[in-house]
Amino acid sequence: MSAQAPELAPDLLAGLRRLKLSTMRQIAPELLVTAKTQRWAPEEFLRTLLAAELEARDASNTRTRMKAAAFPVIKTLDEFDVAASSIPQPTFDYLASLEWIRAAENLCIVGPAGTGKSHTLVALGVAAVQAGHKVRYYTAADLVDTLYRGLADNSVARVIDTLLRHDLIILDEVGFAPLDDTGTQLLFRFIAAA
Ligand SMILES: Nc1ncnc2c1ncn2[C@@H]1O[C@H](COP(=O)(O)OP(=O)(O)OP(=O)(O)O)[C@@H](O)[C@H]1O
Ligand SMILES: [Mg+2]
Repeated sequence: MSAQAPELAPDLLAGLRRLKLSTMRQIAPELLVTAKTQRWAPEEFLRTLLAAELEARDASNTRTRMKAAAFPVIKTLDEFDVAASSIPQPTFDYLASLEWIRAAENLCIVGPAGTGKSHTLVALGVAAVQAGHKVRYYTAADLVDTLYRGLADNSVARVIDTLLRHDLIILDEVGFAPLDDTGTQLLFRFIAAA
């Protein structure tokens, strides 16, 4: 059994806490022992500490974005059987590259029930979140509800501005719920703004 690594000096502990470098704070005592016993170059110690903090932060940001995306289920591109679908492989590969998100292009998927439209949309959304994009999934009915609520307190423009801060908005089940005139106009206003 290895001896317990000595605690960090109080000033280091306080500084790391103040800067919210919690991963560094957790691993530093152990890492200091390793660095000393293995005679690491000082730069190597700093690099390892920094890499651990960055990795933990990236993972935490991805979790936050994944939650905020509000996917109804989690689907992945790997689970999708491209050959069994009517999406040509080169098209699927282009979509999976997420290049179209960076280019701010639109994607519209049309097809019969149960053919994998939602699966493809959600899987692309999940891949986008993992690539660092800000994504939000809506069914058309939910989006119209959200816009309707904005109508009630005269904040539609603000609601739309907030929505458009996302890199990708997924609008699923368009046509499932019949829209009244106001709903149609709200949806049009949102899409025109986008
Ligand atoms: N090519 C495929 N590879 C793997 N799974 C598939 C494929 N096509 C459909 N599925 C699966 O079949 C189920 C139905 O697919 P999905 O919900 O994506 O269909 P949809 O086109 O959105 O249908 P709807 O029009 O009813 O919304 C899901 O569980 C999905 O994962
Ligand atoms: Mg669907």
